[in-house]
Amino acid sequence: MKITVVGLGYIGLPTAAMLAESGHEVLGYDVDKKVVAGLAAGRVELAERGVRDLARRALQSGRLHPSSMPFPADAFVICVPTPTVDHRPDLRAVEAAFGAVAPLVQDGNLIMLESTVPPGTTLAVAERTFRALGRYLDAIHLAHCPERVLPGKIVDELLWNDRIVGGRRPVDAEMARAVYATFARGEIHVTDLTTAETVKIVENAYRDVNIAFANELAILAEALGIDAWETIRLANCHPRVDILSPGPGVGGHCIPVDPQFLASANPFASELIQTARRVNERMPHVVARIVRSVAPIETGDRKVALLGAAYKPDIDDARETPTLAIEHLLADAGYTLVVYDPLVTQYPGTVTADFDAAARDADVLVIVTDHAEIRELDPQTVAAAVRSRTLVDCRNCVDVDRWNAAGFDVHVIGRGAFRSTALVAAA
Ligand SMILES: NC(=O)c1ccc[n+]([C@@H]2O[C@H](COP(=O)([O-])OP(=O)(O)OC[C@H]3O[C@@H](n4cnc5c(N)ncnc54)[C@H](O)[C@@H]3O)[C@@H](O)[C@H]2O)c1
Repeated sequence: MKITVVGLGYIGLPTAAMLAESGHEVLGYDVDKKVVAGLAAGRVELAERGVRDLARRALQSGRLHPSSMPFPADAFVICVPTPTVDHRPDLRAVEAAFGAVAPLVQDGNLIMLESTVPPGTTLAVAERTFRALGRYLDAIHLAHCPERVLPGKIVDELLWNDRIVGGRRPVDAEMARAVYATFARGEIHVTDLTTAETVKIVENAYRDVNIAFANELAILAEALGIDAWETIRLANCHPRVDILSPGPGVGGHCIPVDPQFLASANPFASELIQTARRVNERMPHVVARIVRSVAPIETGDRKVALLGAAYKPDIDDARETPTLAIEHLLADAGYTLVVYDPLVTQYPGTVTADFDAAARDADVLVIVTDHAEIRELDPQTVAAAVRSRTLVDCRNCVDVDRWNAAGFDVHVIGRGAFRSTALVAAA
């Protein structure tokens, strides 16, 4: 088939490359001219090695053509961003993408929306767009095929995940299923448009609620003087319990955003979802409170090094990262901040990949992201660089005894007993 993929980001590029690799002639259209120029020159600048290799192979094969213009095709796959603004879905990119391809769509063509959207969006946007052109949807095929890959494992999951394919009519779903079946090895489940849209956001709302539960346990555990991590580990030994981990807050383009799509569909029937969001949004405040208690600003100038700007380990994506909220809260309180990340280059503030510069003369190190480079830091070496040996670990990712042995006070979020060097020495 000839397929136009709209949006060449984290999702669109590997999808376009996978379609090209399975023999389709793929045109990748993006409004960002820099993205297109880079790809046209063979540059693929994503952190994930598997995605880079896949995209390079597709570009070299001559079957993936990056372009700043959309072109006619048999099928159109839309993978544009769907952020929230003031907790409400911002669907302008989806509207723009439909608007750009609609004049090129011929009767019998297929449009598949992959972007995550609130229930009812695919049909509403398509109807509005085609009605404005004086056309009826019955002449075309329309499907929603939400993308559910995990950053860090994108290529693997594109191939092996089960897929949900929702069609406006069964024939539309069947056409979309046939396209994905050319590369997807997982089962392809066929349903209607609105169910497919809802399944995707339900999955992330479920994870957000589960993480909020873990975060609430972390705060409770600190008050009770027990260890939330150990409590969760033991509770998860039960065959029907699966609690996720606490942390500094929830980041990324999906989990903090998608629940709001469900909540905005019916604010009165989504109290649990909204409460979970509030609990998770409160976690940067919890981290700031810990820093303020272990290194009070009142006693002098304080430099805090935030270790990790990515929202999860070993990726370069800092969208919705809790690091930014922690940085703002502590800067507002008068602390001097430096943010270190070995992978992230795009961050709304300043980020450095130079750990030595970040740690030099720091009073507190805060592990926000458990990148391998951060998990594997040598406490003895770090001890020589900092001004004061205090570590706040929001990911429970370091060997506390080793850091204690290097003279560090370590506070692990959710761990009630504060393990100071003095306590260890006394024991
Ligand atoms: N990143 C993930 O891990 C992930 C996982 C599952 C689902 N999703 C969903 O997939 C969708 C895409 O996310 P992403 O992470 O690939 O976004 P992204 O920001 O990485 O990439 C989007 C690309 O679309 C381009 N674009 C924006 N508007 C456009 C338009 N009107 N026409 C053509 N190109 C346009 C941008 O320039 C950008 O290159 C979102 O709805 C997201 O929620 C993302």
